[in-house]
Amino acid sequence: MDDAENIVKKLLAGDGPAENEYVRLLENYENREITEWITAEAVRLRKQHFGNKVYTRGLIEFTNYCKNDCYYCGIRAGNTHASRYRLSEEEILECCREGYKLGFRTFVLQGGEDLFYKDEDIVSLVRAIKRTYPDCAVTLSIGEKSYESYKKYRLAGADRYLLRHETADEAHYRKLHPQAMSLAYRKQCLYQLKELGYQVGAGFMVGSPGQEMRHIARDLIFLTELKPQMVGIGPFIPHHDTIFAKEKAGSVELTLFLLSVVRILLPTVLLPATTALGSVTGDGRERGILAGANVVMPNLSPVRHRKQYDLYDNKVSMGEEAAEHRERLAKRMKAIGYELTVERGDAPEKNTHRLDLCASPEPVGGFNRRSV
Ligand code: 5AD
Repeated sequence: MDDAENIVKKLLAGDGPAENEYVRLLENYENREITEWITAEAVRLRKQHFGNKVYTRGLIEFTNYCKNDCYYCGIRAGNTHASRYRLSEEEILECCREGYKLGFRTFVLQGGEDLFYKDEDIVSLVRAIKRTYPDCAVTLSIGEKSYESYKKYRLAGADRYLLRHETADEAHYRKLHPQAMSLAYRKQCLYQLKELGYQVGAGFMVGSPGQEMRHIARDLIFLTELKPQMVGIGPFIPHHDTIFAKEKAGSVELTLFLLSVVRILLPTVLLPATTALGSVTGDGRERGILAGANVVMPNLSPVRHRKQYDLYDNKVSMGEEAAEHRERLAKRMKAIGYELTVERGDAPEKNTHRLDLCASPEPVGGFNRRSV
């Protein structure tokens, strides 16, 4: 039998392929027979665990200030052309108000690593959202912090945390990030977040500069070790103000193939059809869902700031990508046989780590009382 077929069988049997086997499998991402097989299995598993439901998250990009200088990212610290903004607590709560009315029951607070917001600010914000919308989940996506900070946010009520590992290969990590950053620390953050009882999301870009199949193989092996509840995978897209301006974007087909592989590896994972996938191709969201994804994250940021959260060129944030057009997105999902749901959409298998959720005191102050 064909080598790739044997590897697919191994994958389906739950015996994680070895690195070199993954490489041989990934080289088949354009082989129609293999992709159809993998996709069908991924869809079967997603239907088994989630039916035809698609969970929605309202994405609030609340600051594009960042202390890091990741070479691929449009809002990296060194980009002097970026037009910076940050939202006040009141502005963020206004987004939640709007989002709640529209049917969102998860708010994802995403931002650059902006030192303006102290732990108390994040705590105050999380508490305010959880107090007003006790039926909603709060997801944080604000980068690398200390264990103590993560613990404070968790005690304040944060449910989930997204922190893509970006690449699990040390040498590749160095090509994408400055010396000040470390893959070991990033991985440590992910394990700490798990320990604190967050539903945790890791992930990586497809086709980032210097990426080889063996790096992706390592990403998949890392995901099997970490067992995150969420995985974000999207194509790399060049940004004109980065050293990678002239690189080409990652492959849509390989991204879809990987979504299916991750669905098979982690059958109950919450897997978004990402904005980057929707940005490189008009029907990216649909194709992501049809490959095994089960989450979409429309943009709930204030319209006046959307263009400024400019991670890569031509990032979509309007039309079906916009939270205010939820109905249009629902229609598009319906057209492919799926249904947007208003449920919170927690991970079916809860994180087994328990954090003793004792009451912590109300925060004093808060950035809503300082000017942003
Ligand atoms: N292309 C695609 N994705 C990018 N991200 C950052 N820059 C780019 C880019 N140029 C992704 C990173 C980050 C997430 C918020 O956006 O993976 O974790």
